[in-house]
Amino acid sequence: MSLRVVQWATGGVGVAAIKGVLEHPDLELVGCWVHSEAKSGKDVGELLGGDPLGVVATNDVDAILALDADAVIYSPLLPNPDEVTALLRSGKNVVTPVGWFYPGEKEAGPMRAAALDGGVTLHGTGIAPGGISEKFPLLFSIMSTGVTFVRAEEFSDLRTYDAPDVLRYVMGFGDTPEKALSGPMQKLLDGGFMQSVRMCVDELGFAADPHIRATQEIAVATAPIDSPMGAIQPGQVAARKFHWEALVGDEVVVRVTVNWFMGQENLDPPWTFGPAGERYEMECKGNPDFTVTVKGFQPDSVEEGLESNNGIVATAAHCVNSIPAVCAAAPGIATYLDLPLISGKAAPHLR
Ligand SMILES: NC(=O)c1ccc[n+]([C@@H]2O[C@H](COP(=O)([O-])OP(=O)(O)OC[C@H]3O[C@@H](n4cnc5c(N)ncnc54)[C@H](OP(=O)(O)O)[C@@H]3O)[C@@H](O)[C@H]2O)c1
Repeated sequence: MSLRVVQWATGGVGVAAIKGVLEHPDLELVGCWVHSEAKSGKDVGELLGGDPLGVVATNDVDAILALDADAVIYSPLLPNPDEVTALLRSGKNVVTPVGWFYPGEKEAGPMRAAALDGGVTLHGTGIAPGGISEKFPLLFSIMSTGVTFVRAEEFSDLRTYDAPDVLRYVMGFGDTPEKALSGPMQKLLDGGFMQSVRMCVDELGFAADPHIRATQEIAVATAPIDSPMGAIQPGQVAARKFHWEALVGDEVVVRVTVNWFMGQENLDPPWTFGPAGERYEMECKGNPDFTVTVKGFQPDSVEEGLESNNGIVATAAHCVNSIPAVCAAAPGIATYLDLPLISGKAAPHLR
C-alpha cells in the first residue's frame, strides 16, 4: 500500500518534490496546496508542464486538512507554525525543509503537542540546513576519533536559484549593506543553522558554550549584476557569508558557513570560490583529519540552474525519501538522531 502524500506549495522545492513522489515506489500524490490564485483549480500535472495527474491543486487550506493523507511535504516561502500544527492535528505527518531540524524546546513544544494529538511526526530536512550542515558531518565523523573540530561549508553562485522572493526576503540580496546587516535575515537564518550547529555539538559531545556565535560579511556590486531577482545595482548587497560557530573556551569546535555569491565578478571585496569552485565541503579534524567535497549540487551553468537547480532537487529528494521512515516513527518530532538510515530508491525502469 502506497503512502498518500500532499505537496504544500509548488515553488522550486515543491515541483521537484512532486516529481520525486511520482518516481518513488512507496508514495502516491493525493493532494496539493498552492499559494497563488492562478494555480488553484489546475491539475498538478499541468502545473508541471506535463500530462494531467488527476490531482487538482487548491488554495483552500480546509480542503487539504480534510484530505485522507499520510504525509505533507511542507515547502512554502516561509514557515507558518500555525499551518504546521493544523496539518499535524489533522493526522498528517509533516516533512519540511523550512525548519524543525533540531528544534529547541521553545520551537518544539507546540509542534510536539500537535503531533502527539494527531498521532503523527514532524521532521525537518533538506540540503542545508538539513543535510550538509549537520547530518553528513556527523555521519562522516564516524571515521575519526578524538574529534576536535567539524566544519560544513557551502560555496554557491545564487544566480542559478530562480526563487526571487527567497533571494530578496530570506537571503537579503539587493538591499543596502546597512539594511541587510540590521534586517531580519540573520535571525531568520539563525533559526535553521544554529540547530545544525547544536545537533553537531550535542551528538559529538563537545562541552561547548550554549551561545552559538553568528557573524556575517557582505560584498557589494561594483557594476550591475544580472540575477533572478533583477539587476543588483552598484553598492547593493551582491554576496554574503554567514558563519555559525560553537566554542569550547576560545576554541571553535563546530563551524557552519555559507558563501552565497551572485557570481564571482564585480564584487567588493573581490571574493571568489577559489580554484575548487562551487561546492559543499565537510571537514572533520581528529584521528585522522579529512575533508569531503561534494560537487554536483550546484548546476554547471546559470542557464541550467534556472531550468532546474540541483541543490533544490536534492532538498526535495531528501524530503521525499524521508517520508516512509517519518510515517513509521513514533509520534512527536523526529530528527535524524531518531530515524534509521534513509536511502534513495531505484528509478522506475530499474526495479
Ligand atoms: N533546508 C534546505 O536545505 C532548503 C533548501 C532550499 C529551500 N529551502 C526553503 O524551502 C522553501 C521553499 O523554497 P523554494 O525554492 O521552493 O522557494 P520558491 O520557489 O520561492 O517557492 C515558494 C512557494 O511558496 C508559495 N508562496 C509564495 N508566497 C507565499 C506566501 N506569501 N505565503 C505562503 N506561500 C507562499 C508559492 O507557492 P505556489 O507557487 O504553489 O503558489 C511559491 O511558489 C523556502 O522557505 C526555502 O528557504 C530550504
